[in-house]
Amino acid sequence: MNNNNIPDVNLNLNVRGLPQSATLFINEKSNELKKQGKSVYKLGLGQSPFPVPQPVVDELKVNAHQKDYLPVKGLPQLREAVADYHCKNHGICYSPEGVIIGPGSKELMFMLQYVYYGDLIIPTPSWVSYAPQAQIIGRHVRWLHTSRKNNWRLTAEDLDAHCNDDPHRPRIVILNYPSNPVGVTYSVEELKSIAMVAQEHKIILLSDEIYGELHHQGKHVSIAKFYNEGTIISSGISKWCGAGGWRLGTFIFPESLMWLLNSMAVMASETFTSTSAPIQYAAIRAFKRGEYIENYLWRTRWILSKLGNKIAKMLNENDIYTPKPEGAFYLLADFYKYKKRLKTKGITDSKSLCAKLLDETGVAILPGKDFGMPPEELTARLAYVDFDGVKALSAAELVNSIDQIDDEFLDYYCGNILKAINLIIDWIKG
Ligand SMILES: Cc1ncc(COP(=O)(O)O)c(C=O)c1O
Repeated sequence: MNNNNIPDVNLNLNVRGLPQSATLFINEKSNELKKQGKSVYKLGLGQSPFPVPQPVVDELKVNAHQKDYLPVKGLPQLREAVADYHCKNHGICYSPEGVIIGPGSKELMFMLQYVYYGDLIIPTPSWVSYAPQAQIIGRHVRWLHTSRKNNWRLTAEDLDAHCNDDPHRPRIVILNYPSNPVGVTYSVEELKSIAMVAQEHKIILLSDEIYGELHHQGKHVSIAKFYNEGTIISSGISKWCGAGGWRLGTFIFPESLMWLLNSMAVMASETFTSTSAPIQYAAIRAFKRGEYIENYLWRTRWILSKLGNKIAKMLNENDIYTPKPEGAFYLLADFYKYKKRLKTKGITDSKSLCAKLLDETGVAILPGKDFGMPPEELTARLAYVDFDGVKALSAAELVNSIDQIDDEFLDYYCGNILKAINLIIDWIKG
């Protein structure tokens, strides 16, 4: 082959040097080690371990023949089911006209950032993809750092102080709760205070509630209740319904922000056209809920709550600080008490901490740096999902109270994760 005839590399400046999404990278690296015959504990990728509820799978089968392009904003019956779901379950009664369906909420977030003209404010730590999306588009990102003493949650005071610097600047603030990567959420009082500040500064709140249904006590409250006119709720079926690979996400807008939805719909019409038709038909069943899905949800919450709390206890008892989990399937561990000891091993930041841990123990966790935390902070996210969710769920269906998800249950069905936690503890102390 004559090398003079192949095209030159010419990449958009915004994506030049941008690495692959951190969570996907750790997954590939773990698979590579597994292929080499090493034991790997995958606490990196945040994917639901549970199966898609059977009635939703059945609905997908029945709708496999659906082949037509659907309306850009989504199948009308699904938009209605989504609006209805938010109204019945969270008391947020926006019109079905305010719903847009996309191939994952991630894609909808990208479009929102693209069509909106203003700054993006991201409290740290935060999910790995918000900032790279802004970078791809060429948007300005402002980080709002939070602190361990507040379990890494945004405070109304910090938001207010940030906005007072330039009160009239157009801004979107992303608020994610229960949170990835910390696994904590906000109280009603905290949500009210943040909502008041947002309202005062006319901020657009993108309320990322993808883990809302995985509030361990089933008590998720949306901030939209307190700032209806400026809040967009982001959700979908990836987490609570175990259907990440189905790729379906939802945004719901209040009347006052329809200009954003309409603009996103134009962009969707020129890019992905519409979300997969069979998946949209099946998702109607998911959002309609009913007894089967409620039972499924409670069992998944019980398992996650018991497992998360057990891990947090093990870590805290060994001086690895972790907030008590309240939702989703993540824990943020802070190894700051081991700073000196880690330094003797040549570890001075979260990246080298996770790289060495993976090399020496086979436990894959993600560095706090990937979530926007200062690199020198010795923090890492653990996703406690490396277990057989089908088996654990079937067993949990036979119990009728959370108390029956005891240590014996966790050892039997989630033993691999507990082993990984012990490996982390032994390694850090060794
Ligand atoms: C906080 C958060 N938001 C959004 C998403 C995107 O979800 P999806 O695109 O599958 O709807 C994820 C996925 O990991 C997430 O953790």
